[in-house]
Parts: sequence; C-alpha cells; structure tokens
Amino acid sequence: MIERLTIRRPDDWHVHLRDGDMLRAVAGYTARQFARAIVMPNLTPPVTSVAAVEAYRDRILAALPAGADFTPLMTCYLTDDSDPAEIARGHASGAWVACKLYPAHATTNSAHGVTDIRALTAVLETLQRIGMPLLIHGEVTDRDIDIFDREAVFVERVLAPLVRDYPELRIVLEHVTTTEAVDFVASAGPHVAATITPQHLLINRNALFDGGLRPHAYCLPVAKRERHRLAVRRAAVSGSPKFFLGTDSAPHGVHRKEAACGCAGIFNAPFALEGYARVFEEEGALDRLEGFASEHGARFYGLPLNDGTVTLERAAVTVPERIGEGDLAVVPFHAGETLAWRFVG
Ligand code: DOR
Ligand code: ZN
Repeated sequence: MIERLTIRRPDDWHVHLRDGDMLRAVAGYTARQFARAIVMPNLTPPVTSVAAVEAYRDRILAALPAGADFTPLMTCYLTDDSDPAEIARGHASGAWVACKLYPAHATTNSAHGVTDIRALTAVLETLQRIGMPLLIHGEVTDRDIDIFDREAVFVERVLAPLVRDYPELRIVLEHVTTTEAVDFVASAGPHVAATITPQHLLINRNALFDGGLRPHAYCLPVAKRERHRLAVRRAAVSGSPKFFLGTDSAPHGVHRKEAACGCAGIFNAPFALEGYARVFEEEGALDRLEGFASEHGARFYGLPLNDGTVTLERAAVTVPERIGEGDLAVVPFHAGETLAWRFVG
C-alpha cells in the first residue's frame, strides 16, 4: 500500500475566493494546496472591467498569509454588454486569462450574466481570434427544464452549436456533472476541456436528502444520479488531458446555507487534494492524479508546469464541523468525516 504520494505542485482551475472578510478567511486554504488558481469573477458587482480585475487581484494578494507562494489567475465576467476591445486589452496586458460565461440567473451572483449567447458574436469572435479561453457554467435556466436535466440540455442546445460555429474557440465546460457533458467533451476537438470538482466525484444526489435536507451538499450544477457520478469519475481518472482539477470551492456563511432559501456552493478548499486522492485511490489510479491535478490544466491554458512538489501521506484526518467564527463560519465539505490522506505540504 502506498503510504506517501508526492506530485508536482497542482493548480485549481476553478475557485471562488470571494471578497472582503470572507476572502481573508478562505484565501489561505487555496494558497496552501495550489500554486495557481483560476479565480471566478461573480462578485457583487461582478468583475467586468480591467480596472476592477486589477483591484480584485491586489485584494487577493493582500489577503494571502505571509510567505504564500500563490498566483491568482483572473477572469472577466461576461454580460450582454461586454466590450470585446476591453476583453482583448485585459488579455494582452495579462490582467485576466479567461472569460466566464454565466447564463443569467443560473447560479450565485449571475443576475448580470448573459441572456442570449447568440448575441455575443463579437465577443466570441474576439476570444477565438486571440486564443482566450471561454469558461462556461453549462446549465440552461428555463424554469420548465427539470433542474437535474439543465446541464444535459445546455450541452445539446447551446454548447454543441457553439463548438460547431466557433471551431477554434478554447472552451472549458466547468464542473461537469453528467454523462452527457463528459461524453461531449471527450469526443470534441482538443480546444474543448472540462473541470471536475471533488463533490461531483464523491457524492450523488442522494446526499442532498440523506436523512433530511442537507444544504451543505447543495451546489450548482446540483449533484446528479449515481450513474452520472460514475461517468464523471471515469473521465477524471481516464488520463485524458481534456479533464482537469477545478474545485469550485464556493464558501457561504452557515447562516446563508441553513436557510429557507439556502445558497448553492460547497466549501471544499481546506481538504481538496485529500478528496481527489481518495477518488483516485478508490479507482486504482493514484498514478494519474498528477496529470489531472498538475499537468492537464496548465497545458490547456498554455502555462508552464509548476516547479516543486506537494506530498500527501496516509494518515487519518478528521475534518472540523465548522471553520471560522460568526458570520464567517463555514461548514467544509466532509465536515465531521475522517479522511484517509493528509496534505503535508
Ligand atoms: O454552487 C455554486 N456556487 N455554483 C456556482 O456556479 C457558483 C458558486 C458560488 O459562487 O457560490
Ligand atoms: Zn463556480
């Protein structure tokens, strides 16, 4: 049995670091495990301008613990009014590395999102031309579509035509949760990839209703049936360079989760690699964790692989029931459970 696992330093290709006090409370967890992270722009107000993203990046750097060696990779929040020239300007200067497409009202702070992707022609043409990735929250928002079908319907109605019409556009379908999404990405060309979260590898939709309503298992896209979880697992451990690590760690204060209308989001940053390691071990694929966590994403984004390594050791770790105090108290993923791998550093 393997007792220690050392891999090249990994990156998180999808994370919500928030702002203000919550940013200061959570940034260190991501910076502890990952060298870089793609930081989501769904703040209030959303990050839509070069000036806003530069200021946000500075706030992230100021929030990091002393001595942290962490690079935030910033993103632009697309709206119906996004200006292709501003996007290209920020890309050229290095202010942001990708654009995030939230269908309007799909999830947390997406009210300013895109109402009709077909109206974004000039933006999409620009992204394709300059090679800037489009990161997609892939769910339709029609209220008459069953919530468990929203990703599969998005793939068919929106993503397939998009890939057909913009064959050179670099696309990351974020946090895939279904057979349909995994199959689409696997069979598309090399410009189409996907991120995979720990929760979509570890829980299915039963977790939302396990003995009662479980708000801390609720995220978007919502966890699906077991057969979908198994398809997502096969993709993660397949060794395909199209699938890579993106935690979608999304902290909300306990009071905002345990409410009549609880927020979507699972805070998995404190034990992210431990969760992925469990999955890869269960699948007999620990030798493929490094590709998934530390190589495929960097290659897709055209960035160098990180120097240095991190180590996990086989040791029981009990996850706290809560992290933080007062309004900043958050229930982490795996709260109260004992995990088999420990992140050493
Ligand atoms: O569960 C989620 N939480 N899904 C998202 O798409 C957004 C995120 C958040 O910002 O809370
Ligand atoms: Zn997200």
